[in-house]
Formats: sequence, structure tokens, C-alpha cells
Amino acid sequence: MAVVAVIGAQWGDEGKGKIVDMLAEKAKYVVRFSGGDNAGHTVVNPLGEFKLRLTPSGIFYPGTISVIGNGVVVNPRVLLEEMDHLNGRGVDTSRLYISDRAHLIMPYHILFDGLEEEARGGRAIGTTHKGIGPAYTDKVSRTGIRVGDLLDRELFREKLTAALDYKNRILTRVYDKDPLSLDDIYNEYCGYADRLVKHISDTTIMLAEAIQRHEPVLLEGAQGVLLDPDFGTYPYTTSSSPLAANACLGAGLGPGQLTHVLGIFKSFQTRVGTGPMPTELKDATGEAIRQRGQEFGTVTGRPRRCGWFDAVAARFSHRVNSYTSVAITRLDVLDALPRLKICVGYKLDKRTIDYFPAGIPALEKCRPVYEELPGWQQNTDGARRFEELPGPAQRYVARLEELIGCPASLISVGRSREQTIVRKSVF
Ligand code: GDP
Ligand code: IMO
Ligand code: MG
Repeated sequence: MAVVAVIGAQWGDEGKGKIVDMLAEKAKYVVRFSGGDNAGHTVVNPLGEFKLRLTPSGIFYPGTISVIGNGVVVNPRVLLEEMDHLNGRGVDTSRLYISDRAHLIMPYHILFDGLEEEARGGRAIGTTHKGIGPAYTDKVSRTGIRVGDLLDRELFREKLTAALDYKNRILTRVYDKDPLSLDDIYNEYCGYADRLVKHISDTTIMLAEAIQRHEPVLLEGAQGVLLDPDFGTYPYTTSSSPLAANACLGAGLGPGQLTHVLGIFKSFQTRVGTGPMPTELKDATGEAIRQRGQEFGTVTGRPRRCGWFDAVAARFSHRVNSYTSVAITRLDVLDALPRLKICVGYKLDKRTIDYFPAGIPALEKCRPVYEELPGWQQNTDGARRFEELPGPAQRYVARLEELIGCPASLISVGRSREQTIVRKSVF
């Protein structure tokens, strides 16, 4: 039996899509367990380049079953567009299943995401404006509508009527906006339901049976640990937990079933949106990393903030996830740099600390303490074995392993499946 959770270990965009696409060759099930279409997972494989937002990155293998778990918030319009796009490029989506317990993103969630961001003014989070926060808010406040509710039109209309009545009062009285039409939303979502009905099921049953048959399962994380509402840079976070503990909850498995937790780290640091980032580089080196790595948001196209690898944050990420092993991605992006820095501590006021503080004011004051290593100034994208990497690149990876406190089972040196050094199988 192998149930492997693939976890974004930094601020998202670590290369989860690439790694899941590569590992899914051996998986029977690939399950998204959190987030929604705020995620953008890039996959480059023999079929071309794909930017997946809701569909699990294992969709490209004919023998693999894809599941959108109960922990995900689903915008059915985006999902259907994505499925149409995949079908148009020859990818079969008939083996995609959506949990009947997953919550729906409704048009008012998207509207409120924008209005709430505007109301935050200078403290805006820089959300993806996909309605993620408002949809999870409704889930927790028990006013959400679930994917399974689409299967019973009467129940769906009843829930929508109650939800919309409240939302329209806020829209008109607080935000001075026009109310939304019940009939328009009802008809739009019934249209989505007609198309999605054969994909909706109790996915916990199929996963439990798969595990009983000892079939390999991959749990595909979205976002990253430092965007977690508890352990991330709150309130500059997302609204669902990207952590390994939530991989079980968001897929409907017990924690004892996980056999491997794989943390995905970039060999440097990036972040989109606002919030503290101690190792951010606002200079030519940051720009060089952004250009060479093409660090622009997959969903929003926003330039990603780039910086040196933050080993303080990485150790913290390991502490709250207990990685079995890690993957170091995008090593090739550092190829041209003559010298590299790794943040090994923070200067906070007059002290040096080795932990990731909880509060924003403290994090904003943290100044990185760097250790310098020589670069390798050679191409690494052709390496397929660790020994084929230049000496300084090997030492850089070894130092990251030492500082994180966890071995690297995978090292990624390019966007495609084969540009990966596999040191140890996770299955
Ligand atoms: P995700 O959200 O974690 O799946 O990551 P994204 O897809 O948003 O961003 C990662 C970007 O890095 C994508 O454009 C990938 O194609 C690319 N990528 C992944 N691994 C590597 C690598 O090892 N080297 C290079 N150069 N690019 C990579
Ligand atoms: P993947 O899965 C990077 C960020 C947004 C914003 C914050 C809150 O591709 O790694 P939200 O729309 O979730 O309310 O936005 O979280 N964010 C991501 N950053 N990668 C992601 O996903 C992200 N999903 C959300 O930029 O700062
Ligand atoms: Mg991404």
C-alpha cells in the first residue's frame, strides 16, 4: 500500500504539478484535497503544456483515476471549461470524479472576494479573486452549498434561495450594489449540474476500496505551507490548509493511511500576493531569478516576488508536516549565478532567532542571516543522476537537505517529466 501526499512546502508554485504528473505514472488515483481554482499547476509532458486549476495532475494517464476531494471548493464553470480544454487537446476526462461533499463556488463568492479586497485597502491580501475565501467562509458558517446538492434540484433551489437572500441584503445594504438574480444563478448551475452529474460521487468509498486493494494513491496539494491559515503568514494566507494533516481530511482518509509525505521546495523562494517574505530580493539578482525562472503567476500572470532559499521557513515547514522526503525543484534556474545565499537565521531586533515567528510585525522586522555558497555556472538541465550535477550544485542540495533536516528523494532540473533526478522512489 502507498498513499503519498505531495505538499507545497513554501508559498505555492513550487512545481507540484510537474512532480505529480511525473509520479502519477505509478499511481492509480490522484486526489486534489484543498484549495480551488486559485491553484495553477503547470504540467509539461509529451502532450504539451497544461495549466491545471482544478483537475488533478494525473489526468494524462489513461489508467489513472482523478478525484476532486471534499476539501476542495469547486467553481463548476471553471471545471467544465478546463475539462473542455483538455478534451479538445485529446485528454480523456471521463475518469474524473468530484466529491459530493465538496463545496461550490457561487457567483456571489467571487463578487465578495473582490469587494472584501477593496474594503481592505492598503491591507489587501492580494487574493486571486476566485471567491476562495468567501466560499470557505460559507462552508464553516454552514451556509455553503455542496456539489451533491446539485443532484436534488428542489433542495438546491431551497439552499440557494436562503443563501442569496442573505447575500443580497449585504450586497445592497453594505456595498450599495445591485442584487443578484436567483433564477439566473439557479438556471446557470442547473446547466452545470446536467453536465457534471456523471462525475459526482461519494469519493471516500472509491478511495477506501482502492486502499483495500493496495492501489497506489497520490494526494495532490495546492498552495503552500506558508499560506496555511494557522501556520502561514496570517492574515496574508489562503483559506484552506495546504498541510499534510489536511491531505487526509480533504480526501476523506484516516491519517494512519499516509505512507509518505513529500514536501516540494523550490531551490529558492517565491511568493505572489502581499505579506512578509524575509528573503525577498528587490535587486538585479531577484530580477535575474524571475526572468530565468519565468516567475509569473500561473493563474493571474502577476510577477512572483523572488528571493534566496529560506531555511528557517523550510525547517518550520518540515516541523509542521513531518516530511518523509523532499523534492528540490528548479535547480536549473540557479545555473547562471556566481554565488548563492541561503538564509540560516533571522536577526530580530538585537537577537538572532532560528524559528519562524507567528506575528506579522515580527516577521516584517526579521532580517535574514545568510550563508554563502559558490554557484556552479554550468547547465544542470541535462543531469539525470545526482553524480552528474556539478560539484557545487551537489553541495548546495546537500546543504539544503541538512538545513531542512530531511533527505531529497527527487531533484528537478527542468519542466518536463524526464528532467528529474530520482534518488529514491516514494512508492
Ligand atoms: P505548482 O503550482 O506548484 O504546480 O507550480 P506552478 O506550475 O505554478 O509553477 C512552477 C513553474 O515551474 C511551472 O512553470 C513549471 O513548468 C516550472 N518548473 C517545475 N519544475 C521545474 C524545474 O525543475 N525547472 C524549471 N526550469 N522549471 C520548472
Ligand atoms: P498553487 O497551488 C501561489 C495566494 C494568493 C494570495 C493568497 C490568498 O499554484 O501553488 P486566495 O485567492 O487563495 O484567497 O489568495 O494566496 N495563493 C497562491 N500563491 N500559489 C498558489 O497555488 C496560490 N493560491 C493562492 O496569491 O496571496
Ligand atoms: Mg501554481
